[in-house]
Amino acid sequence: MRPIIPDYLAEVLRDVERDTSGERAGYIPELATADPERLGAAFAMTGGEVYGAGDVDTEFTIQSISKPFVYALALSDHGFDPVLARVGVEPSGEAFNEISLESDTGRPRNPMINAGAITVHSLAGADGLSPTARVERVLEGLSAFAGRPLRVDEAVCASEMEHAHRNLAIAHMLRSHNILTEDPRAVVDGYIRQCSVLVTVRDLAMMAATLANRGRSPLSGRQVVPELVVRHVLSVMFSCGMYDAAGDWATQVGIPAKSGVAGGLIGALPGQIGIATFSPRLDVHGNSVRGVSLFERFSSDMGLHLM
Ligand code: DON
Repeated sequence: MRPIIPDYLAEVLRDVERDTSGERAGYIPELATADPERLGAAFAMTGGEVYGAGDVDTEFTIQSISKPFVYALALSDHGFDPVLARVGVEPSGEAFNEISLESDTGRPRNPMINAGAITVHSLAGADGLSPTARVERVLEGLSAFAGRPLRVDEAVCASEMEHAHRNLAIAHMLRSHNILTEDPRAVVDGYIRQCSVLVTVRDLAMMAATLANRGRSPLSGRQVVPELVVRHVLSVMFSCGMYDAAGDWATQVGIPAKSGVAGGLIGALPGQIGIATFSPRLDVHGNSVRGVSLFERFSSDMGLHLM
């Protein structure tokens, strides 16, 4: 079985390579310069083996794929109630950068959209941490999921921060509702650093495999977050991870997943496998065009749909 996997991955990559539709994320200037032809995919097993094809060692920024992992850190640092009091778990049916706050409470609808993720960033680590210490907690936590030390791409971070008017507006709205209790600019700065963490497809597959392995890293053996937290996070990924395409994804692919605007995409199948793909051109929802096609193929070829 083992030698077949890279051949299979290479064959599926060749099939999707022809599709050059979609656009790189233009609203973060540094991402608009990425090589649009990059393409890679990797499978990480819960036993620790990783199989890949294409650009598996190219680094790119994690972007929104950080959201479920930092949500898991916040849940394990604070417990469920304080986090759920600030961020809901209902699909918004709207774009990732919509304000999407509940009208009565001001709570963001879920942690996968920017409003929810900005709030969740402020909940990583202990109460009262300095913005720098919070970013450290996030970096340490993301690294534990990946099984190796990760670092921030300063150029992408600065580029996004210069154009962060929308996220700053969202954070100020959150502050006005007392959902955020800290300086909105410092929280957005930390959230953007979180999004600017560099990963490869191999890292992302291992991070997804840690979720699939119920929170225990297949590489280090460390229980990064509790099992119950992982069940909760995978449920939210299933219903909200692909934003306003979440329903199509759930029916057609049927794997808990999360995308990022640098072109990464992960899926985690509990007890089985973590999958990651990378291709920078995005569809109108902000999801990688070829990444979505690859997952459709994986799901149908290998019967991965959970239902
Ligand atoms: O906050 C933002 O807009 C970006 N740092 C992340 C957005 C993102 O990755 C959306 N996902 N596809």
